[in-house]
Amino acid sequence: MAQIQVSTVSKTFSSASNAPRRVLDGVSFSIGEGEVVGLLGPSGCGKSTLLNIVAGLDEAHTGSVTVQGRPMREQLGAGFRVSYVFQESRLLPWYTLQQNLEFVLQAGEFPRSEWAGRIERVLSAVDLTGFRDFYPAQLSGGMQQRASIARAFCIDPDILLMDEPFSALDELTARKLRQSLLDLWEKFRTTIVFVSHNAFESTFLADRILVMGHGKITHEIDLSGSPRPRCYDDTALFETSKRVIRTLEQHSVSPPSLQPHP
Ligand SMILES: Nc1ncnc2c1ncn2[C@@H]1O[C@H](COP(=O)(O)OP(=O)(O)OP(=O)(O)O)[C@@H](O)[C@H]1O
Ligand SMILES: [Mg+2]
Repeated sequence: MAQIQVSTVSKTFSSASNAPRRVLDGVSFSIGEGEVVGLLGPSGCGKSTLLNIVAGLDEAHTGSVTVQGRPMREQLGAGFRVSYVFQESRLLPWYTLQQNLEFVLQAGEFPRSEWAGRIERVLSAVDLTGFRDFYPAQLSGGMQQRASIARAFCIDPDILLMDEPFSALDELTARKLRQSLLDLWEKFRTTIVFVSHNAFESTFLADRILVMGHGKITHEIDLSGSPRPRCYDDTALFETSKRVIRTLEQHSVSPPSLQPHP
């Protein structure tokens, strides 16, 4: 059984001031347990909207999303763990970094005896050990994003959803975190769905890339043949990422507002 099954999901945003706009149009795909899947497509094509729906944060849609055959809400009630790294860090501003991590550990009902070890492990993975008593406003944007990645990892999620998690980071930090992500994946085989605008990043991380055009999945790229563990210096990955870019050029259709005028 697929870990995540998305079946004919459509989503229309309506408001009093604007005409209704359909931003997802019959999207279907399935993701296997332990699979790493990247969502790539132009700005505004519906990636974040789709990820919110998969996460169960937006239930105002048609079609269905199931996790191991049951709705996400039921799975969460049964102790299933999902982490979501948003496009922006969304740390709680009135808590220190340490308190932000304790907050999710408490919500996840982890025994207090495990907290220190879990916090140590994730803060060291993102190089923020010395900043545990800082408030989010005292951290740079990139540090806040690394903190949100630490927060996602500290509960050992069954499913990890990430919306452009590394785009705000400098390249060296991003490289390190992509590697940490894959190290964690090697250990836990977490199912990961991430959004990215970076073809090499997607090639480096993913088993499969879903190319999105305006509200639809327009193409799939199978990368399961690229050996793991992946290595930055593997020239074959660069060649593969060139192929990914060519495929994107062919299959990612921009939303109407972004298409060039004739
Ligand atoms: N809450 C909302 N109300 C109305 N329209 C929305 C809302 N959220 C998103 N949209 C619209 O839905 C479309 C898709 O937005 P979405 O954020 O999913 O795009 P995206 O692919 O994640 O883009 P980006 O790569 O820029 O993050 C956009 O046209 C956007 O204006
Ligand atoms: Mg987005």
